[in-house]
Amino acid sequence: MESTVPVPRRRFINWLLGGTFGALVASVIYPIIRFASPPRIPEATTNQVEAGDVSDPVFSAKGFKIIRFGAEPVILLKASETEFRAFSATCTHLDCIVGYQKDRSQIFCNCHGGTYDLNGRNIAGPPPRPLIAYKVNLIAKGSEPAKIVVSRA
Ligand code: FES
Repeated sequence: MESTVPVPRRRFINWLLGGTFGALVASVIYPIIRFASPPRIPEATTNQVEAGDVSDPVFSAKGFKIIRFGAEPVILLKASETEFRAFSATCTHLDCIVGYQKDRSQIFCNCHGGTYDLNGRNIAGPPPRPLIAYKVNLIAKGSEPAKIVVSRA
């Protein structure tokens, strides 16, 4: 027995199902494409940040602090009485935030035991690359350095 549904009605149902399927695919694909494509307006870039005073008590207590350099975390550490160093605080292994072990004079990542020396070089553990170095300038107030300014190296 042949179908009794007239052709225009069948065509309408096929069109409706096809359109629904197309809308479903578009609603899944469009957000993926928007997420993967870069933004039209590039993020503002930061070239230097003021990182506080050299007399900050955190340096005598922990020997370091994490500062924000735009959207990037940067570890600022006191390497000696007169020298500060700054590196990207993002571990080059799997992006954990590193810390400073003052007693061992090394930068350490707690996630998997990655270790860096005071030049940011990866010396132990899984990190595949050195940390990105930043430039540290001490701005004098009178005859003594007072402010720390971190800039891109
Ligand atoms: S994320 Fe730092 S060692 Fe794995």
